[in-house]
Amino acid sequence: METEDRGSQGAHKKHWAQLQAQAYLTYPLYLGQLHLETSERPGPLGCRRILPQQIFKDHPAQQLFRPEAFLVSLGPSGTPLFAHQGDHVWLDSSSANKTSVAIGGIIKETKPGKVLVEDDEGKEHWIQAEDLSALRPMHPNSAQGVDDMIRLGDLNEAGMVRNLLIRYQQHKIYTYIGSILVAMNPFQVLPLYTLEQVHLYYGRLVGELPPHVFAIANTCYFNMKRNKRDQCCVISGESGAGKTETTKLILQFLATVSGQHSSIEQQVLEANPILEAFGNAKTIHNDNSSRFGKYIDIYFNPSGVIEGARIEHFLLEKSRVCRQAPDERNYHIFYCMLMGMSAEEKQLLCLGTASEYRYLTTGNCTSCEGLDDARDYAHVRSAMKILLFSDSENWDLSKLLAAILHLGNVEFMAAVFENLDSSDVVMEMPAFPTVRKLLQ
Ligand SMILES: Nc1ncnc2c1ncn2[C@@H]1O[C@H](COP(=O)(O)OP(=O)(O)O)[C@@H](O)[C@H]1O
Ligand SMILES: [Mg+2]
Repeated sequence: METEDRGSQGAHKKHWAQLQAQAYLTYPLYLGQLHLETSERPGPLGCRRILPQQIFKDHPAQQLFRPEAFLVSLGPSGTPLFAHQGDHVWLDSSSANKTSVAIGGIIKETKPGKVLVEDDEGKEHWIQAEDLSALRPMHPNSAQGVDDMIRLGDLNEAGMVRNLLIRYQQHKIYTYIGSILVAMNPFQVLPLYTLEQVHLYYGRLVGELPPHVFAIANTCYFNMKRNKRDQCCVISGESGAGKTETTKLILQFLATVSGQHSSIEQQVLEANPILEAFGNAKTIHNDNSSRFGKYIDIYFNPSGVIEGARIEHFLLEKSRVCRQAPDERNYHIFYCMLMGMSAEEKQLLCLGTASEYRYLTTGNCTSCEGLDDARDYAHVRSAMKILLFSDSENWDLSKLLAAILHLGNVEFMAAVFENLDSSDVVMEMPAFPTVRKLLQ
């Protein structure tokens, strides 16, 4: 709370002098800043207690004082800082944690000489009078949290991080910074993506409704239709942040609102399970980590109906096929195939279980909690049907995948060839003949 009254400046100066002479630093007071304009810097304070009513009896903010409120500190510009139970404050990083960002907190108790602050993580800190400079009052907007961080009272890193934290705790995973959307990964299924939600956000301006990825998709769609210009949506974040899920949600929104429910929209959506099966894997950060980048172009006709799409992919992590870090897996498709294929098909491809293949076991992890490989395989097969893969193309793919697994099990031995040290395949093992048969 900030108040300033230039009319009674003279009175303040007088009271300020009194304050310097008489106040004792550790009277816990109301948190709020009274800008007492004074040319003098506050000197060391004396030790006699004075009542706040006495000091500020002429000040327009007098009504803010509660009888139990006391002065606790003087701010750097000679601003008295007051603390009261229940006030929100910033706790400097050095007093609260080892990061370089201040943490939010609430004053639980005030005692002469010290203040008890509970930080946002639930930890309690007694702040001594001499360390009170570690506390700064929090803007009311920052205390409650805002939908759009442009409106934050404390617009700095700590303010933004805390705003996201308190919203996340209320399951509000989306927050705007103007026209940018910040999405926090909820790691749980929230009821935010139903058909009703799509219809709710359709045609509404950003800011009319709570922040949502559908609002961003809607803006792109309407800007494209209105301005007849291409639109681009960049989704970025670290591994596991939720980029792939967000992309799918935007596609889901566009496919639904573009209206025709034709096979093209379904094909655009169903390309994803195939791409993910061949390009995503379980890593230590994300059970479904995309190991490639992709750029999706979606083409609309002049009336806004999806006509086609082009997916460009780049930087596929090819080394994962042969080797995986501990607790990571190879690409999903291998495990899905071994779990989901019929016994006859597996027999034709001489396939067994994942634990039999070197290429699937270097990470010491063949299954993953929460992933149903058999179900995912069925999904990939049905997606391939929708994308018009023929049976023979499907079978060729299966043969290629099986050949890769068998290739990993091929063993080599040292040999001398024309007087040169060399190596040779161990032909007694079944792997190599199988590869030869599959790739014929
Ligand atoms: N909006 C969301 N709702 C529910 N779960 C989500 C959401 N976004 C991400 N997740 C979860 O987080 C995991 C990782 O997200 P993902 O989009 O694959 O990350 P990234 O592509 O950024 O590496 C997903 O598999 C999913 O379980
Ligand atoms: Mg991803």
